[in-house]
Amino acid sequence: MRMVVIASGGGSNLGALLDYFDAPDAAAVGRVVCVASDKASAGALDRARARGISTHVITDPRDGLALRSMLLSFDVDVLVLAGYLKLVPSEVVSGWPGRIINVHPALLPAFGGAGMYGQRVHAAVVAAGARVSGVTVHFVDEHYDRGAIIAQWPVPVFETDTAADVAARVLRVEHRLLPRAVHAVCNGTVSLQSDGSVRGRVPMPPSLDAPHDEFSLPSDS
Ligand code: GRF
Repeated sequence: MRMVVIASGGGSNLGALLDYFDAPDAAAVGRVVCVASDKASAGALDRARARGISTHVITDPRDGLALRSMLLSFDVDVLVLAGYLKLVPSEVVSGWPGRIINVHPALLPAFGGAGMYGQRVHAAVVAAGARVSGVTVHFVDEHYDRGAIIAQWPVPVFETDTAADVAARVLRVEHRLLPRAVHAVCNGTVSLQSDGSVRGRVPMPPSLDAPHDEFSLPSDS
């Protein structure tokens, strides 16, 4: 599968994807052929250039036809949003049904939607007194953070946590969950059905079980 990744920021999730798909078994399933950004100065573009991957600057994120023709020019199969803060135009959403993936740093549908990105998400989690946050990887539709869920993973929120503490704990899980979720979509393990439901589950390695250990209920005794 030929992948295009769109990122607006530093691109640590992009970096995790590139590292993951460097491994032979994953490389046989997918390859990032272009990294695009709506910010010419985005660190994500520097990461791409450092690896000899094509880059593209999106001059008008609302111009669906321009974005569509760019994606077609790279013969893309899967589009991954790794910290992209703009809505994907309908011309693109309709062109790649079940092939556009986003990572959100909270357990959607909570703490999502327009304006909920970056530190704002984690500040809202702390302000709400939430005991659990986490990561959501989902298919993209015409709305912010509303598409069918591909994978989620919980992250504990401790009483002493600042928004930055939660952000760092969530980001570490994002880097583990997003590549596995993309891999599962690329090889068909997980797919979006015509009725909008998701078939299949992303295989989770034991090493990601750690967060669950922190959620095991104490024995009654
Ligand atoms: C991540 O927290 C992601 O969940 C959100 O934007 C951030 C991107 O960080 N959508 P990076 O640019 O991948 O480091």
